[in-house]
Amino acid sequence: MKIGVLTGGGDAPGLNTAVYALARLAEARGHELHLFLRGWRGVVEGQRVRARADELRQAAFAGGTHIKTSRTNPFKDEERARKAAENLKEVDVLVAIGGDDTLWAAAEAHRRGLVRTVGIPKTIDNDVWGTDETIGFDTAVNRAAKEAEDFQTTLMSHERIGVMEVMGREAGWIALFTGLAVAADLVLIPEKPVDWDTAARRAAEAAARKGWALVIVGEGVKAGEGPTDEYGHARLGGVAAELAQHIERRTGGEARAVSPGHIVRGAPPTAHDRLLAIRYAHAAMQAIEEGRHGVMTAVQGGRLTYVPLAEVAGRTRLVSGEWLKLYEETYML
Ligand code: F6P
Repeated sequence: MKIGVLTGGGDAPGLNTAVYALARLAEARGHELHLFLRGWRGVVEGQRVRARADELRQAAFAGGTHIKTSRTNPFKDEERARKAAENLKEVDVLVAIGGDDTLWAAAEAHRRGLVRTVGIPKTIDNDVWGTDETIGFDTAVNRAAKEAEDFQTTLMSHERIGVMEVMGREAGWIALFTGLAVAADLVLIPEKPVDWDTAARRAAEAAARKGWALVIVGEGVKAGEGPTDEYGHARLGGVAAELAQHIERRTGGEARAVSPGHIVRGAPPTAHDRLLAIRYAHAAMQAIEEGRHGVMTAVQGGRLTYVPLAEVAGRTRLVSGEWLKLYEETYML
């Protein structure tokens, strides 16, 4: 079979591992793997090269995506959709590795009957509906935790309040997991809006007790009005600086803000993310060979499974259930 693959949306640690694993599996089973470059843009513009597993091996465990990415929406207009449909005829199946936007487009391609499609969820945000785990999240949390711990040492020395912003859009997964992992004094997540005077007071109280305080804030707690991408998502960022200023104004204490942002996203994948990428690649290949299409590989309760792309499209997995309870009982006392 001729299998196409693309990586779309924000890059995530583990994408190269997934593509390499697909190439190895394809070669071992007598299929051809074709790389669409630059996500859906490569499908619209017909940018496609044949994969060779040995050539992909060197980059297999590096951060980023060597087959490039874009936030192109192939269904933004019918001319693009027509070109995409034409180029998709070149492959028998498409594996779309992406977050909610890329997977929405995959669901749409499947719905229109343009190509048989299998999705693999990736995003550092961990906000893809239908799965507990996306490729890249574990690395992002590990790297953000390291940044937070290094930030803490200087906060301790100067007896300051520090605010660290992490990515995640409207989902607080990275903020919550990082905050818990480093015992931050306060974590602000978009799912549970807190007024900033209360946040400032809580940070000042923690600093009064032990001399310094660390606040982790998810970028989406206060959505800005920046430009939007082709899927309508706003560009976020800058909330930590705003909050640090607010803390200084309200408490008279000294506060500093950091925002490691893309540095966290660009890290090399942890062993966990490498294994997840390999498991998903294997599950995708199995789905292809079993003739199962219009599905996304997923992990639910530790077990590999598949969910219909139609169910995933247009939905976001926010912090809820057990994790929201843990958040509330840890940070909203
Ligand atoms: O969706 C992944 C993500 O890293 C978000 O957490 C963040 O808001 C966004 O991408 C940043 O996108 P860009 O790389 O376009 O600045």
